[in-house]
Amino acid sequence: MSLLTLWVAYATVRAFMQKWYWVDDYHYLTPFYSPCVSTGCVPESAEFGRFLPNWPIIPFAAVTLPFLLLFRLTCYYYRRAYYRSFWASPPACAVPDGHKSYSGETRFPLIFQNAHRYFFYAAILISIINTWDAIVAFHGKGGGFGFGLGNLVLLGNVVMLWAYTLSCHSCRHIVGGRLKHFSKHPVRYRAWGFVSKLNAKHMQLAWITLGTLMLTDAYVMAVSAGWISDLRFFH
Ligand code: FES
Repeated sequence: MSLLTLWVAYATVRAFMQKWYWVDDYHYLTPFYSPCVSTGCVPESAEFGRFLPNWPIIPFAAVTLPFLLLFRLTCYYYRRAYYRSFWASPPACAVPDGHKSYSGETRFPLIFQNAHRYFFYAAILISIINTWDAIVAFHGKGGGFGFGLGNLVLLGNVVMLWAYTLSCHSCRHIVGGRLKHFSKHPVRYRAWGFVSKLNAKHMQLAWITLGTLMLTDAYVMAVSAGWISDLRFFH
């Protein structure tokens, strides 16, 4: 859990930092600032317009960050992790619940966890935006096509984000749930088989994507701040 706490602290500091989120030469945008929609964003980084006021208390990507947070907060795997560590419900297998009565997720506030499937839809949209960011980042110094280590970092992050999002339990249900006869729905059956394989790795993907998100952000920050130069393979 200390890792999760550390990650949340890092992400919070970065989300409110409002600098070192964009590499102008190569059009790298950190996922923590995507889409950059504040009037404070560098114009070239704002692929989807700039309409949020530029106030220190509003992150530049305030239209997506709450949904990403809620998607992870209501995720079945993270629920298991923080119910045990923070909620003590139950603290571990065969250890009595820390609370006097148990109402599961049937009452406020935990009934809100049922909204997870809606945050899944938001996460799909955000993954599309992150994919777009990774595509437009194939940008050379001064224009045209370019390709560097930053592109590999952004691409790797997007691939892992898709894997995590598609491995979601809600996704598995949306793709293959409520079907009586798989034989009558061959396409959904194949998709369900694919998603089920990813689903078996959901816990690992949950942790891996925390790592890739942090690494991608740290890389973009380091290049943007001038601490390191991007390793260029072309242009
Ligand atoms: Fe983890 Fe949906 S169950 S993201």
